[in-house]
Amino acid sequence: MIRPWSTWPLRVRLVVTVTLLLGTLFGVMATVTTIQLRGHLQGTLSDQLDDALGRVRGSLVHSPGGGGNFMQAPGIRDAVGVALDSGGQVTSGIAGSSASLTQKQINALRSVPADGAAHAVEVPGLGSYLVKVDTGAPGMPGPRTPIAVGLSESYVSGPVDDLIETEAVLGVAGVILVGFVGFGLIRVSLRPLDRVAATAARISMLPLHEGEVGRLNRVPAQDTDPRTESGLVGASLNRMIDHVSAALEARHASETRVRQFVADASHELRTPLASIKGYAELTRRSRESVPPDAAYALGRVESEATRMTALVEDLLLLARLDAGRPLEREPVDLAPLVVDAVRDAHAAVPDHRWEVRLPDDAAEVVGDENRLRQVLVNLLANAGKHTPAGTTVTASLTREDRWAVLAVADDGPGIPQELLPTVFERFARGDGSRSRKAGSTGLGLAIVAAVVASHGGQVWVTSEPGETVFTVRLPLETSPASVVAVAATG
Ligand SMILES: Nc1ncnc2c1ncn2[C@@H]1O[C@H](COP(=O)(O)OP(=O)(O)OP(=O)(O)O)[C@@H](O)[C@H]1O
Ligand SMILES: [Mg+2]
Repeated sequence: MIRPWSTWPLRVRLVVTVTLLLGTLFGVMATVTTIQLRGHLQGTLSDQLDDALGRVRGSLVHSPGGGGNFMQAPGIRDAVGVALDSGGQVTSGIAGSSASLTQKQINALRSVPADGAAHAVEVPGLGSYLVKVDTGAPGMPGPRTPIAVGLSESYVSGPVDDLIETEAVLGVAGVILVGFVGFGLIRVSLRPLDRVAATAARISMLPLHEGEVGRLNRVPAQDTDPRTESGLVGASLNRMIDHVSAALEARHASETRVRQFVADASHELRTPLASIKGYAELTRRSRESVPPDAAYALGRVESEATRMTALVEDLLLLARLDAGRPLEREPVDLAPLVVDAVRDAHAAVPDHRWEVRLPDDAAEVVGDENRLRQVLVNLLANAGKHTPAGTTVTASLTREDRWAVLAVADDGPGIPQELLPTVFERFARGDGSRSRKAGSTGLGLAIVAAVVASHGGQVWVTSEPGETVFTVRLPLETSPASVVAVAATG
């Protein structure tokens, strides 16, 4: 199947168009030239025929009944003739030859109508002839013998055929030459466009969506001359690259400022929060009796301060992870981490069933033990906090290929469907009012996602009523992925 014209490469379209136009032009010129030459030669032949008729008639006058020699009049070439004398005797002849015509050839000549016009006739064995019949008009010299004289049309067809042959050879050679030379020239002229496209392709492969992007590759200066089409594209692309670069730098600067602000603010809030909590506790426990209302209020101040401290810690951790702060890089065996975390969760939420499944061999990853512990704590806390009493929670650790796979599964009611796509985003929470009462901020899973990503791993969740599974995949210590991930974050 031939592809639509508009999908062909520009260079092919240009070459095809140019060669087609050139071929057409050449064809038209060749046709006109040929027609003109043929017309000219036919006119000459027709004049020569009249002349030959006159000469043949003349030779008949000088030698009436001249037999086969009547065609030997001087100045006639490539001619045949037939004469019919008064006795009905047919004589025929060929100019420049003593032979006479065969009966078939004579018949062909005699078949020409005597209407004073020239007719093309195929004379068997001799080829095509232009034949005219002269009946010997009264008053004309010579006996009134009808004669038919033909001149060979090779006078016309020979040069015309030669011309057509030359034109065809020249035309085909010219079109092929123009095709090749044109293709080469167009290729060379379009090469700068290829370089511009390569620059754009290189940029499109860069991770521009986050972090510091650095200097972007620009189109080389030689391809940015705005006087040429490709230079115009190159120069425009460079302007765009400059704009994008500036925008990315501005974005990075503003992100850094916001992160720094959050980190600073969280850090600054820690001390006053600790003071509030401490003073509230001190006052509540002071010897002087505190009225019950005030004691309740102090208790609330204390618990809210605790909640806020946790929130501030989470914010600070997220800000640090966002800033790509270097993590610890040490081998961490995940199995004891899982056991400890489940034991703590059991102590905190004793009304759930807690189960652990571990692999036979160790699953070591390279990373920050405290952060990894936090991943487990957050996932297990969710499974304890967002499910009813009696729920079974299973924490399992397996090795798959070059990955350590941690899964926390529960048979609780599941995550609401509308929350599922955004559950790893910051401040994404289920039923807001209820969760908040339970001391929920919606940062737990965001921290899980950030820690796992900074370890070069992945986390995902599947949830339906009765089965919610959070799966974390971390590169094992031996796998090259962990080296890459650590190199990227460290
Ligand atoms: N195992 C689970 N079962 C049901 N819902 C869950 C489960 N884990 C998480 N969720 C839902 O996902 C939401 C987001 O969880 P995330 O841990 O990010 O925040 P949180 O637990 O509400 O608050 P935080 O962890 O910051 O104290 C939760 O509010 C809850 O609605
Ligand atoms: Mg949580």
